[in-house]
Amino acid sequence: MFFHPRESMIARVGARPLLAASILAADFARLGEAIQEAEAGGADWIHLDVMDGHFVPNLTMGPVVVEACRRITRLPLDVHLMVETPRRYLAAFVSAGADRISVHVEADGDLAETLGAIRDLGARPGVAVNPETPAEAIQHVLMSVDTILVMTVHPGAAGQAFLPDVLPKVRELRSRRDQIHSAAILAVDGGINAATAPQAARAGAEIFVAASAVFAHPRGIAAGVAELRTAVESDSA
Ligand code: DX5
Ligand code: ZN
Repeated sequence: MFFHPRESMIARVGARPLLAASILAADFARLGEAIQEAEAGGADWIHLDVMDGHFVPNLTMGPVVVEACRRITRLPLDVHLMVETPRRYLAAFVSAGADRISVHVEADGDLAETLGAIRDLGARPGVAVNPETPAEAIQHVLMSVDTILVMTVHPGAAGQAFLPDVLPKVRELRSRRDQIHSAAILAVDGGINAATAPQAARAGAEIFVAASAVFAHPRGIAAGVAELRTAVESDSA
């Protein structure tokens, strides 16, 4: 497992926004090369969207895909669990090589306990919030997470349109986070591209998760990462 202790420090001083390439829009017939292109293009994390057909209707990937990714990249593997009973799968994802695991506040089980279990297993816990869930719902765990993952689409699929109505919540969570001096870094996920990422950056986001804008970019994966980088760095500077 690879830890990157400088990440949160970098994000907190605002020096460099982080880009997480979500493989959901990658060509799974050539997943290894796609990830290596994202890494060479400057992606900071690889984001894996796990869906169980219950928490969201879609079914995607499990620990076997995390394990395959672990073999071809040293980038942190950021696993986003869109599953009803996350607790059941934590050990399998950590053994497969997950560095970070985010679970939804809307999922089953005691959230604080699930987050504690992730940390006990040696990974960095994160909490994810659906668009309609208010900021207060995660106030009690802001000190115990490393990532706050704000969904800017309804989870379930890549390629959906960014929901600008979520921006006030991004702003609110950024200010709550700053107020209590939590070390958590603030991520946005869904519909992120060169046009929407700067809006999220202005609202206080520090990590930008993107699938389509990276893996389905018309000029290729590295161009997709570069375009996002330019968008967030020129705007949040
Ligand atoms: C949505 C997932 C996102 C998704 C983003 O359920 O959590 O990570 O892959 O896809 P784009 O960037 O295409 O909206
Ligand atoms: Zn995701």
